[in-house]
Amino acid sequence: MKGLRLIDMGENRTVRTQQGRGGQIRNPFDSAAFRAENKITLDVTNMFDAPGPGSVSREDVESLIPEVIKAHQMLKNNEGDICDHDIPMTGWQDLPVEIGEAHLTRIRSITDELAREVDAFVSLGIGGSYLGIEATFRALTHTYFNQLTRDERGGAPEIYFLGQNMDPDFFRDTLDMLQGKRIAINVISKSGTTTETAIAFRVIRKLMEENWGEDADRMILVTTDRARGALKEMAGQKGYRTFVIPDNIGGRFSVLTDVGLVGLAMANIDIGEFVAGFIAMRDLTTGDVFWENPSLVHAAMRHAAWCSGKKIEVVATNAVSLYSVARWMEQLFPESEGHDGHGLWVSPSLYSEKLHANGQMVQQGERNILETFLLLKEHDNRIQIPRTDNNLDGLDFIVDKGLDMNSVNRMVIEGPAYAHHKGGVPNMTIEIPRRNAFNLGQLYYMMERSVAISGYLLGHNPFIQPGVEAYKEAMFALIGKPGFEEAARNIRGELEKIRRIRI
Ligand code: PA5
Repeated sequence: MKGLRLIDMGENRTVRTQQGRGGQIRNPFDSAAFRAENKITLDVTNMFDAPGPGSVSREDVESLIPEVIKAHQMLKNNEGDICDHDIPMTGWQDLPVEIGEAHLTRIRSITDELAREVDAFVSLGIGGSYLGIEATFRALTHTYFNQLTRDERGGAPEIYFLGQNMDPDFFRDTLDMLQGKRIAINVISKSGTTTETAIAFRVIRKLMEENWGEDADRMILVTTDRARGALKEMAGQKGYRTFVIPDNIGGRFSVLTDVGLVGLAMANIDIGEFVAGFIAMRDLTTGDVFWENPSLVHAAMRHAAWCSGKKIEVVATNAVSLYSVARWMEQLFPESEGHDGHGLWVSPSLYSEKLHANGQMVQQGERNILETFLLLKEHDNRIQIPRTDNNLDGLDFIVDKGLDMNSVNRMVIEGPAYAHHKGGVPNMTIEIPRRNAFNLGQLYYMMERSVAISGYLLGHNPFIQPGVEAYKEAMFALIGKPGFEEAARNIRGELEKIRRIRI
């Protein structure tokens, strides 16, 4: 039997776009026509008057407007509870207009040089030093990027991520994929001391040095604090090329810093277009008219829902490519809002898949759910649904109506939006016209501003995460890290007293 041929399928447009990017074909993101066609919108129609407990009314939201506008002004003036170690952590607000072309050119020249030399690029990092890069990479590239030919990837190397967990099987499997390949890495850690990233770096650096000696140093990029930290010091000693995470930008707000830009440039994603998307949304969301400012409206809707008893925000998308963007939101919101017993839990979801898993709970379970849809309007590819001889599955009507898989996949959001609202789940839809860097930039900036406003509304600083330290202390104590002896004694003492219940 011969191998499968994709008869009448045409070319894969995601591949064509990747190849175009490799050939320096850029989207005309400065043109008015492109901007008009690529504008993220927020539809909040279904937020109001869902039946049952925890319903949100338009009046609930209107009554929040003065408080939201006050928060908006404070944010613009860098006022309020926004500091980490005395530094106001709002540098992301103006970052889009502060990044100069010279900076992007430096990044591109280093990544272009490395990309020519290597077969694979590994990004090491966790949390804010990982999720935004992965989300953007997955949103804008072929699902099986690393299995494509180099030409189909537009000349980019294979891209991998490590340091986001401590699973040795995952680590080893990834190393197997790197076996025999020339590699470059970017180690990303603002603090320079994050255990997961540091352990991953140790293992991979040893392998690189054993293979290539001092030549390995040229293949190691470091993205960290401008002046401090273990990574910065090591980079100085070894002469690694460094990129900077600004003092006034925290991890989960850092996708537009070198944290995101270096890896994205390595994957041939147009970082200039990405910046332009951020600028477009910054222009829109610095405006003072509530109903014209999507960040303010988004923040008010979520806050009203939380005040009405909603505790879980299902962020569901109809695009596999955007699922990682929902995962980025899973960090941005809970890590910023989860203080003092407050905050909405964000649950990333892929529809249809999850409609056949937890969809029952969304429709008829406890009414503590808010839903936000990331609706991708135009997928890269269209798939026609064929007619059959017998119409046994009863689906010929789709063909008769001239519909294709794309039309059905849109209803995978529009159907639940209607049904879940009727079932008591207020929901809103963020419409993303196409998979491109301009749209992703808009989306990220809109969300960053929204969560900052949410911090003011909840009454605490959204730019710190003291709770994350608790797990680190327990983990360090349990593995016997020097300096954690007392914590270790306390934890072990407590654990010994507990009568374990094991069945
Ligand atoms: O948002 C945050 O600040 C965190 O998620 C950090 O990005 C994460 O803990 C990684 O920290 P670091 O970059 O210091 O290694």
